[in-house]
Amino acid sequence: MRARAEGLTIGFVPTMGALHSGHAALFDEARRRADVVVVSVFVNPKQFGLGEDLSKYPRPLEADVALCARCGVDVVFVPGIDEIYPAGFDTKVVAGAAAADLEGASRPGHFDGVLTVVALLFSIVQPHFSVFGEKDFQQLLLVRRLAKDLRLTTEIVAMPVIRDVDGLALSSRNLYLSPEDRRRAVCLSRGLVAAQDTLQRGETDASLIGAAAAAVVEATAGTEIAYVEVRDARTLAKIERVEREARVLLAVKLGGVRLIDNGPLFHSVRWQR
Ligand code: PAJ
Repeated sequence: MRARAEGLTIGFVPTMGALHSGHAALFDEARRRADVVVVSVFVNPKQFGLGEDLSKYPRPLEADVALCARCGVDVVFVPGIDEIYPAGFDTKVVAGAAAADLEGASRPGHFDGVLTVVALLFSIVQPHFSVFGEKDFQQLLLVRRLAKDLRLTTEIVAMPVIRDVDGLALSSRNLYLSPEDRRRAVCLSRGLVAAQDTLQRGETDASLIGAAAAAVVEATAGTEIAYVEVRDARTLAKIERVEREARVLLAVKLGGVRLIDNGPLFHSVRWQR
């Protein structure tokens, strides 16, 4: 990229489009740090599983470009499928052990697809840094691992989860919720708060903290829990007690829509909603 040769700092935000204020927060952070902000919009077929409908993924390109413009994005990169995966393309990045459970358990091959496209996009854009959201916490960790293990030169910048006024993490999937399920979806963030409150009351047993979150989620009719887990925040390894920085991660199904959320668990620091 010419900008790099000219000594300008390039900040990059990879996305799949259907952009909302959660994405915009990433663009704003990139804008704050970089001379040139590049956003990619590419619905990556390799990260969709068999049961997941790639063709139904929303593609409101005009609105996406307009949002990028409002955020001061310099380049919106919208590659065609052949540009990313030309004929003969036959390589993949395989995610390691940290991809085995949580989201990886129900979506086999998903993180291989994510890491393959992210590595490719880094190679094309050659950013000095790239911004990812904590909304997809396992993805963020795996991307950090990718950059470290393959000694990629882009710095990975993380941004906190952006939420709607009632606490629901913003996601393109929220559009698929019926009005009733949209109201019920607040149970995810309430579950996170319950976990945090339990820790604040002095309980450090990870399974009891997880159970407190699960109880709050379960109290909302119509929710089906996929997992509620309390993990080490750096590695996502299973823990028995919250002694260092931990993370509570949960996934539920509401009316057939899978929603994920996560939040920090710190000792003696109250999590701000
Ligand atoms: P996508 O789901 O479009 O998300 C793009 C980026 O926006 C990710 O880093 C995601 O964590 C972040 N994001 C989404 N909702 C957010 C919210 N409510 N708060 C903060 N950040 C949020 O994640 C992907 O696309 C793809 O897997 C991709 C990395 C682009 C590879 O194809």
